[in-house]
Amino acid sequence: HQQANQRGVNASHPLIYGINSDNVEFGCLVSQDTTPYLYEHQNNGVALVPGAFYVELGLACVMSSSRPKVPLSTCQLSISFSAPCVLTQSSQVLSIKLSPQKTMTTFEVLSSSNAVYAAGQVAKGLEGVVEESSISFQAIYRRCKSVISRKEVYEALSQVGFQYGSIFRQLGDVHYCQELKEAITSIKVNEETIRHMYSYCIHPVLLDCFLQMTAVLSSRTFQSRAGFPSGIGSLVVLRPLEEEMMIYMRMSKSTGNCLEVCGCFVDKHGSVLAELKRVAITFMKESSSRDNEFLFENKWKEVSLSQTIGHLGFKPRVLVFADKFGIAEQLRKHLHPASRYVMYEGWECLMEGDAQSKMRVEVEDYDEILFLWGIQKLNEDFPGKAVDQLAKCCEAYRQVVVALREKTSRCSVRVITYRTTDRYVDHVNCGFALYGMTRTCVVEVPEITFQLIDLSSSTSLDISVLADVLVKYKGGDYPEVCISQGRIYVSEIRRTPYDTGVLSDIPLYEPQKQLFKQNAVYVVAGGLTGLGFETVKFIAENGGGCIAILSRRIPSREKQEEMRALQQQYKGSKVVSVQCDVALTSDVEKAFQSIASTFVGCPVKGVFQSAVALHDGHLEVLKLADFHKVLSPKVAGTLNLHRATRGQELDYFVCYSSVTSFLGNATQTNYAAANSFLDLFCLYRRNCGLSGQAINWG
Ligand SMILES: NC(=O)c1ccc[n+]([C@@H]2O[C@H](COP(=O)([O-])OP(=O)(O)OC[C@H]3O[C@@H](n4cnc5c(N)ncnc54)[C@H](OP(=O)(O)O)[C@@H]3O)[C@@H](O)[C@H]2O)c1
Repeated sequence: HQQANQRGVNASHPLIYGINSDNVEFGCLVSQDTTPYLYEHQNNGVALVPGAFYVELGLACVMSSSRPKVPLSTCQLSISFSAPCVLTQSSQVLSIKLSPQKTMTTFEVLSSSNAVYAAGQVAKGLEGVVEESSISFQAIYRRCKSVISRKEVYEALSQVGFQYGSIFRQLGDVHYCQELKEAITSIKVNEETIRHMYSYCIHPVLLDCFLQMTAVLSSRTFQSRAGFPSGIGSLVVLRPLEEEMMIYMRMSKSTGNCLEVCGCFVDKHGSVLAELKRVAITFMKESSSRDNEFLFENKWKEVSLSQTIGHLGFKPRVLVFADKFGIAEQLRKHLHPASRYVMYEGWECLMEGDAQSKMRVEVEDYDEILFLWGIQKLNEDFPGKAVDQLAKCCEAYRQVVVALREKTSRCSVRVITYRTTDRYVDHVNCGFALYGMTRTCVVEVPEITFQLIDLSSSTSLDISVLADVLVKYKGGDYPEVCISQGRIYVSEIRRTPYDTGVLSDIPLYEPQKQLFKQNAVYVVAGGLTGLGFETVKFIAENGGGCIAILSRRIPSREKQEEMRALQQQYKGSKVVSVQCDVALTSDVEKAFQSIASTFVGCPVKGVFQSAVALHDGHLEVLKLADFHKVLSPKVAGTLNLHRATRGQELDYFVCYSSVTSFLGNATQTNYAAANSFLDLFCLYRRNCGLSGQAINWG
């Protein structure tokens, strides 16, 4: 204003002043003095100019520049908000630039450095552009049976970071109808706003109240994610807003990250004062701090050998469960001559009999064990056989641990695997399961020290480094080690760094990317319940058109109802359930044939493997069959899904694993074994150039 007065230009609006005589450029001084209420609009403690303010600037400037003058009620505004404007203690000047055309004027709201905060257009001279001139609010109140108190609304908003000062808190209790996704509230404009509201086209604080109400509609769909208004498709102000009125709102569209609503301000009799259409609220990614709180990953860190290798002369006396691949053999020269070698075949032939007693005898004289039976290749083309082999390996390992536990002496077990970490995983082997199993043994059998050592090659250099690790790197200090090209790496669990290039705490708009395609099939194994069904919903919600659930059972009537409701809610999504035991190759093959004939012409683009069977128990009570049962759906299931989608370019191959495979959990050795198989199998797929992602749900 000061500046406006200095320039002798009077735009007859409390916010704007003309910058030139062409009436195409205006300024707006934003400061604690001129626009104090803006500072009460904060997100995560940062004051931001609300989108509603740009609406007022756009309307006011166009109205002020129009020659001849046009009534406000014949103007229709549309606007999109491009970037947040952060308010600082010092004053700021926003500039509003207009490009008048015949029947409409486009406008931009810019910072002093020409960053665009908002852009839009005002179409002029329209009559009867609103859809409804009045609404039956009594009928709406009757339909809206749930009442959300104003306190709850503002609590929900504050949970996603919006802090409003008293001037912005003008909503009354919101009445809500879940079925029709509509809401209505009354509003009694506070004194502070009344003082200025008649000088505005639509006071930003009041328009912001409309936007606040979207929190009620979004809370079910988007839960605790912050949503920012990203645009308004149409706003028409028919009459000045009143001191007592109602706000009505209805959801018109809901996609992955975006909610669209329409609605109006109405007077006490239901006459529409202002109508809004296609008001878009865009939801944010989870904030970085929240991601960091929940996401962890395993990273390898190099450690340097303190002394030169192979110098110590000390040779450990160990019991070696030797591999056929030759690593144990190469290691022999680094071990004490009294070390003993046990071959897998010798144990396997005892499987039917009392293998556990044999194991007891084997370990009697040895406190240090090297277990290399995990170095067995598995043939991915025979999923059933792979499970048999894996279950036997786990059972043998279980017997070793149980036999050692019965001894009173302090023992250590070192599991040596071959190419079973990170980028080295280039084949499927039994070590995949031993990772999870060992991590669980660490928790369940604290009296024994465990160590996992992975070799990326069988060169003499790596074998001699292995010998050195056996002497110098104790399992207690280094539970997981990887040896590659003479270097030693140790694993550490760390929070997943979240690099967004964020410059401030203000959340960014999530880039609009389509997660799932309409004409593509997404297969969810184990998708009738739990996380599997959540995944089905997520895919439908995010645009996936064809969803096939694989499950051994037929969906219950309730589940069929839920599937139908899902299809109703997300039109364009078809959800079918195919009866299939994913552990059986023939079942999976048939299921994929049936999927191809159901969704003709739609390629399979994603596989989500959520199938699980549990059989918990302490090591002492678990049997071979219990490993078999738990490994089957995850291991054979995953291999079958991998085989069935060979040659197809999948966007997703996601395996639902557990944090148990990572951190271990007593009584769940078999479950951890099955899950670490998934973790490593996904690495294997990636190393083959295929999509693969394991999620270790906590
Ligand atoms: N829920 C959690 O908190 C959590 C935590 C960590 C990890 N996870 C992992 O996330 C996944 C889902 O867990 P959830 O708790 O949601 O499981 P859930 O509700 O028990 O669902 C498992 C589903 O797997 C199906 N299934 C089992 N064996 C199958 C087979 N051979 N063929 C086809 N389908 C089979 C079951 O259906 P049928 O019986 O009809 O076949 C069932 O619907 C699991 O892989 C689990 O390990 C979950």
